[in-house]
Order: sequence, then C-alpha cells, then structure tokens
Amino acid sequence: KAGAQDGQAYDAGPWVPRTDDLGELGRAAAGCRGCPLYAAATQTVFGEGPGRARVVLVGEQPGDREDRAGEPFVGPAGGLLRRALEEAGLDPSQVYLTNAVKHFKFTVPEGGKRRIHKAPDLREMTACRPWLTAELAAVRPRLVVALGATAGRALLGGPFRVGEHRGVLRPFPSPDGPGSGGAAALPDARFLATVHPSAVLRAPDRDAAYRGLVADLRVAASALQ
Ligand code: URA
Ligand code: SF4
Repeated sequence: KAGAQDGQAYDAGPWVPRTDDLGELGRAAAGCRGCPLYAAATQTVFGEGPGRARVVLVGEQPGDREDRAGEPFVGPAGGLLRRALEEAGLDPSQVYLTNAVKHFKFTVPEGGKRRIHKAPDLREMTACRPWLTAELAAVRPRLVVALGATAGRALLGGPFRVGEHRGVLRPFPSPDGPGSGGAAALPDARFLATVHPSAVLRAPDRDAAYRGLVADLRVAASALQ
C-alpha cells in the first residue's frame, strides 16, 4: 500500500472501538500499536475534558511532561493555553483538549539525557487520525480549534499554514478543502485555527504572540454566543 515501506501501513484503526464512550475510547487507546511511536513513549496521552464540551482544541502531540503525566497540556504550553483561554472568556475546564498524535515523539541527543521533542511525520499523523475522528464523533463539538499547523493538517487533511487561516471562523471542514478528518460526524460544526501555545513560548516577541493567541480565542468564544 502507498506510504508503507515495510509492507504494513501505520493505522490506529484496528484499535479503535466503535463507540461514542470517551472512557472506552481512552482505555482502548492505551493499548494502541497503530504506529511505532508507542514503543519509546511512556504512555498514550488521550484527550481530556467534558464529553459534552462545545469546543474541542487540538494540539500536535504530547510533550515530555504530558508523556509522564498521561494528560494533555499539563506542561508549560498547557499553562499558557489555559491562561489564554480564560482571558478570551473560555473556561478551560469546559473545553475538550486533545492532540493530533497521542504519543510523545522525541530524540535523545548523544550523551544527553533530555528528551527533545520531534515533530510527528505524515505517516504518524495519518495513523493516529482515527482516534481524533472518534473523539470528535463522541464529543460532537460546535467548534473545533486547531492549535498550529500539525493540527490543521490533521483536521483538514492537506497542507496548512496557520498564518493564512488564523482567527477566521469557517465551516468544518471547509467545503473546498480536501479534508475529511471527522467531517462526516460534524455537519454543523465550525473550525478555527490559531498558533500553537509552544510557538508563543518560543516567539521573539512573546507578549505580541500571546495577544494574538488570545485574540483568536476571542473569535472562538464569539462562535459560541
Ligand atoms: N503541546 C501539545 O501540542 N500538546 C500537549 O498536550 C502539550 C504540548
Ligand atoms: Fe497509536 Fe497514535 Fe500512539 Fe501511533 S501515536 S501508537 S497511532 S495512539
């Protein structure tokens, strides 16, 4: 099959139970072997939040802290994201937080100990997408927010530039987009992209980047009025 170099396509599909029960999905995801990323990581980091959340926020993949804790967005980027959500008028405890890829991907530089984040590649993103699709089908949010380009790509299924799309509400998925990530389950939902909170932490002008994130999240909040 296309994309498979070892004769086997990466795919979480066989591990995803046919259910809208988030607890059941999370327990099944703990045993996923849909791509090689489970092997070096500590554990699966599934999404978290109310099953009836009106907003789902999608990041890239768990980081070092999330990998150890087994929960999404509990590290520095998560702290920044929660502050930004509150400032934008969205209660962090009322949103569902998840990632495009559910295992931490990293390298350990020679002689070093720290685990350095590595971006997931297209095969891993594609392999993991059935979990995201199942989460969206279970939560049925009114709004899906992509945090960064990886999430945008996973959700819309094609190349994605945050700068071109950020802060603008549109149908999920865009009618002219190639994507199908969970789309069938969400005919009435809307979509919005913004920067990833880790990008805010790395930005040369962190304050300006943070204000941009909050401004985009205010647009997200306005979609729920
Ligand atoms: N960055 C992400 O994209 N997701 C997390 O859960 C934490 C940091
Ligand atoms: Fe499964 Fe996704 Fe983990 Fe790969 S990254 S093993 S597809 S949960």
